[in-house]
Amino acid sequence: MNVVDLARKHNGYRESCANLIASENVTSPAVEEAYGLGKDLGHRYAEGENEVAGHPVSRHYQGQRYIKQVEAATADLLHEVFGTDFVEPRAISGCNANQAAFRGLTDLSHKSMMMAVALPSGGHISHDYAGLAGQMIGLQTANFAYDEEAMNIDVEGSKEIIRATKPGFVVFGASLFPFPHPIEELAPVAREVGAFVVYDAAHVLGLVAGGQFQQPLDHVDFVTASTHKTFPGPQGGVILGRVKGDERLERAARGIQRAVFPKSVSNHHLRRFPALGVTALEMLEFGEGYASMVVNNAKAAAETLHDEGLNVLGEDLGFTESHQVVVDVRELGGGTEVAERLEEARIILNKNLLPYDELGEEADPSGIRIGFQEVTRLGFDVADTRYLCRLLVRALRGEPSAVKEEVTEFVKDRDVRYGFSSLEEAEAHLPAPD
Ligand SMILES: Cc1ncc(COP(=O)(O)O)c(C=O)c1O
Repeated sequence: MNVVDLARKHNGYRESCANLIASENVTSPAVEEAYGLGKDLGHRYAEGENEVAGHPVSRHYQGQRYIKQVEAATADLLHEVFGTDFVEPRAISGCNANQAAFRGLTDLSHKSMMMAVALPSGGHISHDYAGLAGQMIGLQTANFAYDEEAMNIDVEGSKEIIRATKPGFVVFGASLFPFPHPIEELAPVAREVGAFVVYDAAHVLGLVAGGQFQQPLDHVDFVTASTHKTFPGPQGGVILGRVKGDERLERAARGIQRAVFPKSVSNHHLRRFPALGVTALEMLEFGEGYASMVVNNAKAAAETLHDEGLNVLGEDLGFTESHQVVVDVRELGGGTEVAERLEEARIILNKNLLPYDELGEEADPSGIRIGFQEVTRLGFDVADTRYLCRLLVRALRGEPSAVKEEVTEFVKDRDVRYGFSSLEEAEAHLPAPD
């Protein structure tokens, strides 16, 4: 086996596919170049302490003359996008961001109970007793009440559970996330019982940046996220907040920082920082247009699939407000069979538990989840999206291999949009070098 050849084959394969996994994306030429520019940073260490704003205050090794400034400049670009004063960009993934937030807040609250969306309703394994929260941090997890029809947290039922369980913190946000969560209604109830309020924006950070989804930072204490899903940057994590002037939140932010370094990260993968900064710049420039096109495409896809006879969930609510479309495919053989059939047509998406599935049915759940953030980045408009959805239905109803060529022809050789085409173009938007 030749690892280099295999990596080349992988590239060719996924470039020939319509990539509809809701947690993935592609980076722009400028972000690719910035990642290349970070080559030496990718050889280095920079352990030390940060200010709450994300600016390094101490670094324990020599050689940091510019590293500190790269980190501070990246933090400042993120502040500009999100209007924050706390940023922790050293989390190396969304899970690591959750780990640090959950650890930091647990150390402060001294409570062993947290609350999140249940796994079948779309919660992430890192929020669950079976995953990071329970098995790595030792937390008990209570779940929000969930309204299967509305595909959302049930407000009245959840108020009761929050008051009864008095968690140290609650976590909004999920992996199956078509509709905004009721943070305005429930954050005050969480605060009544002394809980911190976290929002996991791993999936929707790019939509938040583009102002096209709910704005969690207006209502919650901390946002955790990945930087590579709807936010189309290098793979990594981030934690954000507005904490200045609130002594309790500042203390929490410092605890969260310590839960990144020194508690869980030694090398924060510095190579990604210039690429992360350039992605933030792209969001400032193109984020609104990008995010609104993503949501338009997802809505158009849902309508098309529904009109073609598929059981798209959320009909009464307009199917989706995010990048995701959720389909019950039991009548077509179930999530596993459908996802595998579609791969034969070079349409890549994932099977997914639906809110009425039982835990334990992960191997063959009732649904599929489809994300439109990546094809939008590749320039898909509503007509393109509808066409792809019709190909998808043809692949399911007929012989998948019969539509494979059409799919590949349709997706190939597309430029990345809503980003800078070169680092030179990006740099024109940055302050002149000293
Ligand atoms: C809601 C949610 N949180 C956290 C994560 C983990 O993010 P990462 O893969 O960056 O660790 C995911 C992954 O898809 C997710 O859906």
